[in-house]
Amino acid sequence: MQIFDPESKEVFLWECLLVLVILYNFIVIPFRIAFDTTTSHLWLGIDLAADLIFIMDIFLRFRMAYIDQGECITDLQKIAQNYLATYLKMNLAASLPLDLMARLFFPQLSVLILAILRIPRLLRLSQFFRIFRRWETNVEINPALVRMTELVLIIFLIDHWVACIWFWIGKSMIAYGDSWLINSNLDTAPIATQYMKSLYWSITTLTTVGYGDITPTSNLEIAFTLIVMILGVSMYAFIIGNVASVVSSLDASQARFREQLDQVQSYMRDRKIPAFLQAQVRDYYQYLWECNRDTSFDRDFLDEIPNSLKTKIYLYLYQELLEKVPLFKNADPACIEALVVKLKPRILPPNDYIIREEQLGHEMYFIQRGEVQAFSEKTGKVYRIMSAGSFFGEIALVYSTRRTASVKTLSYCELFVLLKEDFDSVLDNYPHFAKQVKEIAQQRYNTE
Ligand code: CMP
Repeated sequence: MQIFDPESKEVFLWECLLVLVILYNFIVIPFRIAFDTTTSHLWLGIDLAADLIFIMDIFLRFRMAYIDQGECITDLQKIAQNYLATYLKMNLAASLPLDLMARLFFPQLSVLILAILRIPRLLRLSQFFRIFRRWETNVEINPALVRMTELVLIIFLIDHWVACIWFWIGKSMIAYGDSWLINSNLDTAPIATQYMKSLYWSITTLTTVGYGDITPTSNLEIAFTLIVMILGVSMYAFIIGNVASVVSSLDASQARFREQLDQVQSYMRDRKIPAFLQAQVRDYYQYLWECNRDTSFDRDFLDEIPNSLKTKIYLYLYQELLEKVPLFKNADPACIEALVVKLKPRILPPNDYIIREEQLGHEMYFIQRGEVQAFSEKTGKVYRIMSAGSFFGEIALVYSTRRTASVKTLSYCELFVLLKEDFDSVLDNYPHFAKQVKEIAQQRYNTE
């Protein structure tokens, strides 16, 4: 029997449909109650389809895996128990076909009563929030976009509900001849105009204090307006705060990068660094951004997670390097795992000296991208131009001697650095790997 993965595409599409149905009920029910519109066969059809989706969802939940304390539960019995203990009762109550039965048994019932009988559908609101919470953690969607969509929908629903209540109060007050509808000459207007004017009043009153073209006349209307104004003030503060934080996190890494670049630029301006040098630093950051995005964040985040997970993430992050360096391709997987957590990425601009001849050496390098040149500064002889997949700086480590050549970048280079102590411990533990490195070091040492 098929069990659905809550993270799968099918479930995502199904939940999109559910959100639409929940929204439909939240829009249509208060509208029908307030405006008391006659329902056509088309609306009856849509109501039935919406109800059917809710009922199908109940069956589907019995086949939907769930996450419990980080573990994905796929056992049918456990899924059913969990559903019974959590949302089943509420979902059943939300799907009760009260209006349908009323239509069958009492065909004369008014639209208002039928709409009221659909109120239990609104119990699905909690599911609306649960779905959005899950989407926020979905790997494929930007969480800020999910939060933004949720916020816009909630704002619209609040505006819509306030508009419906405002219209309903106005309509009820017509009998007493003291209504905002009479005052604004809207008591006999078409429903579309009445709704638009109500929504217009609701949005202007919630976001500002309104334009004053539609004003409350009866005491009840004044009281409701006051409540909406107070609600508007608090809602506005909440929304502005949320929208600001969501917009800034839409691309969190870009925001972080921009902040970093601003700091660097103001530092250089304050210290009056020459313009050509400032341009070089800017170019460097530009390269960092275009090719690597935000690497500063990786470190902090990876330091906090357990070693086994960290190794898996490094294996994925350094996949390109592991594929390019022949030495790694033939190595023992355990050796790669030990190495990968020790490697530190370094990005260098063109014409930068990485190693100077005759100096002491404390690390070696692997090239992921770019080109470097090993040469002698004394004779000017170029020993070798190395590109992605090569490594250098190993001779000083293997023979404990001074650097045998200088190495400088010929283009922007993405390198990985391995410190001497880490290099030594890997060589001690993995003799096959050690043998290969030593062989290459010896060949190079002899060809100088
Ligand atoms: P090391 O001596 O530690 O620092 C300079 C590096 O340049 C050296 O290690 C080698 O990795 C590299 N190198 C030196 N000579 C050669 C050569 N003939 N061919 C390739 N690489 C070399």
